[in-house]
Amino acid sequence: MARIEGIRIRNFRALRDVTLGRVFSLQKPEPLTPMTAVIGRNGSGKSTLFDAFGFLSDCLRTGVEEAFDARGRGGIERVKSQGQQGPIEFEIYYKEEGNARPITYELSIDQDESGRPYVQKERLRQRRKGQDRGWPFSFLILNEGKGVAWKGETEGRQIKEADPEFDLIELMETIKRDEHREESKQTEVVELDDKRKLGIATLGSLKQHPRISSFRRFIEGWRLSYFSPDAARSLPLAGPQKHLNVHGDNLGNVVQFMEREHSRKFRAILDRIANKIPGVQKIDTERTPDGRLLLRFNDKGFQDPFYAQQMSDRTLKVFVYLLLLEDPSPPPFLCVEEPENGLYHKLVETLAREFRDHASNQKPGSQVFVTTHQPYFVDALSPKEVWVLEKGGDGFSTIRRASDDSVVENLVREDLPLGSLWYSDYLETR
Ligand SMILES: Nc1ncnc2c1ncn2[C@@H]1O[C@H](COP(=O)(O)OP(=O)(O)OP(=O)(O)O)[C@@H](O)[C@H]1O
Ligand SMILES: [Mg+2]
Repeated sequence: MARIEGIRIRNFRALRDVTLGRVFSLQKPEPLTPMTAVIGRNGSGKSTLFDAFGFLSDCLRTGVEEAFDARGRGGIERVKSQGQQGPIEFEIYYKEEGNARPITYELSIDQDESGRPYVQKERLRQRRKGQDRGWPFSFLILNEGKGVAWKGETEGRQIKEADPEFDLIELMETIKRDEHREESKQTEVVELDDKRKLGIATLGSLKQHPRISSFRRFIEGWRLSYFSPDAARSLPLAGPQKHLNVHGDNLGNVVQFMEREHSRKFRAILDRIANKIPGVQKIDTERTPDGRLLLRFNDKGFQDPFYAQQMSDRTLKVFVYLLLLEDPSPPPFLCVEEPENGLYHKLVETLAREFRDHASNQKPGSQVFVTTHQPYFVDALSPKEVWVLEKGGDGFSTIRRASDDSVVENLVREDLPLGSLWYSDYLETR
C-alpha cells in the first residue's frame, strides 16, 4: 500500500513553511512512520495541518476555487499565510509500494489578475531505477495549464527544469515538431481548458496516463474523519454502503454492507470491538420490519440491549473508530482530528494502540495521521511518531519531531512514557 514519506506545505494559513518527514528537496530526515501524531498548544496549527490534507483532497474533487470556499475556509485571501506574497505550495513525497522509488507531487496555487485562485504549477516526477541522484524524470509537468504528460507505464522524460536554459514552451514545440521520434511519441503536449482544476484530476481520468491515474486514485482514497456521534446515530433508509463517510452518518448503511457482504467476518469484528469497549458485552444487529439493520449493544448489568440511538456519545464514537480500522479495504491514508475528545483516559491509550497496530500491520492497513491534546494518547507512541507544533515569535507555526531531541530519546529509552514527558514540558520549547 502507498505511503506518504513526507510533506512540505507553504503559505497555507499558519503553515508558512513546514516539512514533515522526507521530501525531494530535503532528503536527510527520516520518512514518516506508518502512524503519525501531531501535538501542540491551542492555536499552534494542528487543525490547519489536518485541513491541509482535506484541502488537497477537496482540490482534486472539486477544483481549487470551490476547495477554498468549502468547509468554512473562507476563500484564498483567508487561507494564504498573512503578509506572504508567494503561492500556496504543497509537495508530497510518497511511495506506491514497499520498494518502489518515491514519487514527488508538487502543486502551486496562486491568484490570477482578478484575484481568483488557479493552479499555477503542477508536477509529478520520479527517479529512474538505479538513479539515486540527479534530476528525476517527470511524467507530468504543467505551468499555467500548459505542459507535457508522459503516456508510458514506466519512466518519464528527464526535464532539467532548474537548468537556466530550460523552457517548457520550447519543449512543447519540440515535441510537436518531432512527433515521429520515439521519445516524443510517448510524450503528449497538453493544455487544460480549466486552470482551476488539477491536471491530475483531468489527465488522471484518462487511460493513456496510468501513472497519473494511480496518483489520482491514491489521493481520492484518503479518508479524513470529522465524526460526530449524533451523525452516527441517524437511521438511514438507503441501502448498503461500503465505507464510512467523513461524518460517520452512514454507519447504518455500512453495517448493512458488512452484514450482507462479510456476514461471518462482521460478527467476529463486532465481538472483537465489544471486547475493547469497557462495559459492553456483546454487539449484534437486528433487522427491523422495514428492512433496516439496527446495531444492538448488550450492556453488562442490563437485561435488554441498547440500540445505537441510546448509546453514550463516546461509546458510539469508539465503536465508529474501531469499525473504521476493521474496514476490509482500508484507505491508504486516514486522518483523524483529536480522536480522544471526551474519552475516558484508559480508553484513550487503547485507541492509540489500535490506531498504531492498524498502521503498522503487515496486512494492508492505512497510514494514520492524528492530531491530539491527550498525553495518554502520546504515552502509547514512540518519539519518531510524534511531531510537536509550536507558534513561532512571528506568529507562524514550526514543527519538530520529538525524536530529534536526544534528551527526550534518552528518557524514553529509560522507560519514561512520552506523554508524561510532554505533560512535564519536555517536548515544547517554551
Ligand atoms: N491566513 C493566516 N495566516 C497566518 N496565520 C493564520 C491564518 N489563518 C489563521 N491563522 C492562525 O493559525 C492559528 C492556528 O490555528 P489552528 O486552528 O490550526 O490551531 P490548533 O492547533 O488546531 O488549535 P486548537 O488546539 O485550539 O484546536 C490560529 O491561531 C491563527 O492565528
Ligand atoms: Mg484545532
